[in-house]
Amino acid sequence: MAVRFNRARKKGEIMEVKTFGVIGAGQMGSGIAQVAAASGLAVIINDIKQEFVDRGLAGITRNLQRTMDKGKLAAEEKNRILARIKTSTDLSDMAAADFVVEAASENEAIKFKLFQTLDEVCAAHVILASNTSSIPIGRIAANTRRPDKVIGMHFMNPVPVMKLVEVICGLATSPETLETTLELARRMDKTPARANDYPGFIANRILLPMINEAVFCLYHGVGTREDIDTVMKLGMNHPMGPLALADLIGLDTCLAIMNTLYQGLGDPKYRPCPLLRQYVEAGWLGRKTGKGFYTYE
Ligand SMILES: NC(=O)c1ccc[n+]([C@@H]2O[C@H](COP(=O)([O-])OP(=O)(O)OC[C@H]3O[C@@H](n4cnc5c(N)ncnc54)[C@H](O)[C@@H]3O)[C@@H](O)[C@H]2O)c1
Repeated sequence: MAVRFNRARKKGEIMEVKTFGVIGAGQMGSGIAQVAAASGLAVIINDIKQEFVDRGLAGITRNLQRTMDKGKLAAEEKNRILARIKTSTDLSDMAAADFVVEAASENEAIKFKLFQTLDEVCAAHVILASNTSSIPIGRIAANTRRPDKVIGMHFMNPVPVMKLVEVICGLATSPETLETTLELARRMDKTPARANDYPGFIANRILLPMINEAVFCLYHGVGTREDIDTVMKLGMNHPMGPLALADLIGLDTCLAIMNTLYQGLGDPKYRPCPLLRQYVEAGWLGRKTGKGFYTYE
């Protein structure tokens, strides 16, 4: 198979970013808004309902308060960070942004529609990035008239803690878009790593089949959830077991990624475990709904 190495791309100029838009105020969107505001950017965070943006902002406030309680953040700095964040439920507010990261639910139809609208609303120079876990960037970019300005900017969960940002270029992504995104990731105190545009990129191409296999172990009765997680934590030195990690990621997101790998790569080894599907159909989505493989207060 032909492999295109991003490294061969020419260096592009860096575009200045002052106002940073975030679409989706869930666990990823709110984390991204927090680190962007902490890096000094003006942030606009958007979701479909005011209660969702309010919940996202409350999460950011709680996080910053925790950091303050640990003595790692001054009260004035916390207030400055919060003051940089504006909320929105109207996508046309993104007209004020010069870089937008979409972190809405992992659903192609939702993302395609969002990119069509953002393409209409945002000025021509604006870069539209997606935090998608697995949907090919080229497919998302095809919904816009600016595929050169569409890129994957894949943060890890929890965003304020995890250092990595996976940066994914589609076929048409320009060197300027890449350089600006790499620079922005560094400004947010993250370390970018580049991946080519195949389903799941690097992180989830490797992580999700492992999580799916852990669910198969539970499904086939190879071990209890606790024993499966203990084996991976103590035996492989993973900070969390795969089932607890699936609960953190969200079982709906895990299933969506497995479906993308399965359909995109056409290999039965990526079939989602029926137990994962069953949990999602029951609305057991992990921490965010209070129940997944474990139960949460
Ligand atoms: N959960 C993870 O560990 C993780 C890690 C990396 C990347 N991601 C990716 O980040 C994205 C978001 O995941 P999440 O875990 O934050 O999900 P989430 O369910 O916590 O949040 C998604 C948010 O998007 C909002 N939304 C849906 N449609 C929208 C629209 N049209 N406009 C604006 N907002 C809309 C929802 O109301 C919700 O608040 C997904 O693409 C996911 O694959 C997730």
